[in-house]
Amino acid sequence: MINKSKILKSYNNKIKLLDTYNKFYYEKSSPKVTDEIFDKLKEEIQLLEKKHDFLKSKNSPSKIVGYKPSKNFEKKNHKVPMLSLSNAFTEDDLINFEKKILNYLSEEKTFEITYSAEPKIDGISASITYKNGKFISGLSRGDGKEGEDITKNLATLEDIPKKIVSKDFPSEIDIRGEVFITNRDFENLKEKFANPRNAASGSLRQKNPEETKKIPLKFIAYTFGYENGLKTNTQSDFLINLRNWGFKTNPLNKTITGVKNLIKNYEFVEKKRPNLDFDIDGIVYKINDFSLQKRLGNVANAPRWAIAHKFSSNKGISEILDIDIQIGRTGALTPVAKIKPINIGGVVVSNATLHNEDEIKRKDIRIGDTVTIERAGDVIPHILSVDLKKRINQSTVFVFPTKCPSCGSKTIKEFNKVTKKNDAVRRCSSEGYKCEKISIEKLKHFVSKEAFNIDGLGKKIVEGFWKLKLIQFPQDIFKLDYNKIEKLEGWGRLSVENLQYSINQKKNISLERFIYSLGIRHIGLENAKLLSKHFISFSKFKNLSIQSDYEDLLNIDGIGETQVNSIKSFFSNKSNIRVLNELEKILIIKNAVQNSDNGLLKNKTFLVTGKLNGISRAEVKSLIEENSGKTISSVSKKLNFLIIGEKPTKKKVDYAKQLKIKVIDQAEFLKMLNKSS
Ligand code: IVH
Repeated sequence: MINKSKILKSYNNKIKLLDTYNKFYYEKSSPKVTDEIFDKLKEEIQLLEKKHDFLKSKNSPSKIVGYKPSKNFEKKNHKVPMLSLSNAFTEDDLINFEKKILNYLSEEKTFEITYSAEPKIDGISASITYKNGKFISGLSRGDGKEGEDITKNLATLEDIPKKIVSKDFPSEIDIRGEVFITNRDFENLKEKFANPRNAASGSLRQKNPEETKKIPLKFIAYTFGYENGLKTNTQSDFLINLRNWGFKTNPLNKTITGVKNLIKNYEFVEKKRPNLDFDIDGIVYKINDFSLQKRLGNVANAPRWAIAHKFSSNKGISEILDIDIQIGRTGALTPVAKIKPINIGGVVVSNATLHNEDEIKRKDIRIGDTVTIERAGDVIPHILSVDLKKRINQSTVFVFPTKCPSCGSKTIKEFNKVTKKNDAVRRCSSEGYKCEKISIEKLKHFVSKEAFNIDGLGKKIVEGFWKLKLIQFPQDIFKLDYNKIEKLEGWGRLSVENLQYSINQKKNISLERFIYSLGIRHIGLENAKLLSKHFISFSKFKNLSIQSDYEDLLNIDGIGETQVNSIKSFFSNKSNIRVLNELEKILIIKNAVQNSDNGLLKNKTFLVTGKLNGISRAEVKSLIEENSGKTISSVSKKLNFLIIGEKPTKKKVDYAKQLKIKVIDQAEFLKMLNKSS
């Protein structure tokens, strides 16, 4: 026994040392020791692992090629953001997707949509810039707006042409696609990486391109970002062009019309899936016509004109050991089934979400039940069905807590004014910051990447600080007792100084991030952006607490009643107001940059009544806003133009005339934009 612990200690020390050398070499780019010493240490570790089965470390050199992916790549903006895709799982999801598109385009049900259907390779996306036919640079996706400059690593890929001479190749273009490893090549790397995707990602982000070169990475192209001089009107033609220019494209790409045919193709590809040499997790459908794509535009960070149809995942059977109740940032009580760990498609699953109280009731899920669990892509595993034949006699119906397990407050189901139904979700009714779990979750959100993005203040640390009563409200983060923290286990002078530095750095924040960080229900990144554009300054935003002009918010395209109700309830909570007042004293909240307001519809307000021809309300709204105009929701003195379509509301037209507001038809409106109907 003594021997075993001695070996473990020596092994761990060696791993630590290797980690330090690695950091110096790969992150700081200044080796601390010679290559010989480094290699010898690596060998010693491997030898120990071979000799003693009980030795395993995630930092073991047997598991990693070079060091973990470097954090030190230079960050660069994508000229055009790299979007993500929304998911569809069923035929109904696809029917809905098409319905929404037809609505937006204001087309009849009979309008046939043609799609480019492209198998979705599960790899790492990259964007490669060409200027005058020459490979210039390459970025990883990063957060979609800003990627890492991995030019040198991408240059090692054979599938990425370095020079393109075709006459029709645009003078500048970002070619985007997927970097991946074939399953056959992965066989040789199995020891080193958990799956092909990790292998691709790890090797693509090595500091030393020579390390990348050792791995047979492949590249399949499928879209573009910024372009100048692209002469193509459809995605299917673009894919043909890609091949002519020397890129590889997916051999299973197809052009398909109608949902029924999409499903046929889906079933065909799904059957082929086990025999393919690369992992795919679904099929991407893109509206083929670029002019329709342009009209549809984006919602949040995904295009309206594309969707990923995911393959049904892997399933497994296990037993529910317990049902835990987790409390989220908005007070929602989410039941989670603790299950006997099982391996589903290479991943060990020990938790499955049960969604909400209604879901448990509907499926009558009980502790002790034998259940089928499904894991689809990166979505949290969930329970598909209960095997009633295996139910034990003593089992009892699960009773959902009527008191919050964290703070003891009553739990309630709110009435949703929009859907006119009770919410499926039960929530803790406390004021928020008073409930330990809610407060912790709110703080985690506050410091998270897309909000204040405070380095060194991860989830575990937030939890620890809360328990030590160092933080309860967001403002406490900026008033931390650093002397006290320095004395805590695991902290030292340097780490405290680093924390203090990163917190102070983040006192300067954009209004958009600030609004998002407050964690108001239904106000995600995109809505926060819309609100910040609307209010421009923090003081105007805060004014909502005294001068409650909530109706006006409904005029913002994208903000609906649900969001407005949630904002109302946020401002009616005293502790939220206190948080805003305190944060105002500490932070510098930058005004939002106003949209270029020199468009054709500058300073003009519009309202539509009746059905327009070939253009939906949503699209009209976007058009107006793109041209610096505003849409409002009712006829009032503030209105400049009432646009009338078929069957307008008579009351609106009469009232507008009474107020001497200009009443125009669709053609007149389009004329204002120099467009013909
Ligand atoms: S198009 C339009 N096409 O899927 C915005 N993406 O969730 C999406 N992907 O990050 C890009 N195959 O890594 C597109 N044929 C394909 C794709 C594809 C795989 C990945 C890509 C992207 C993710 C979006």
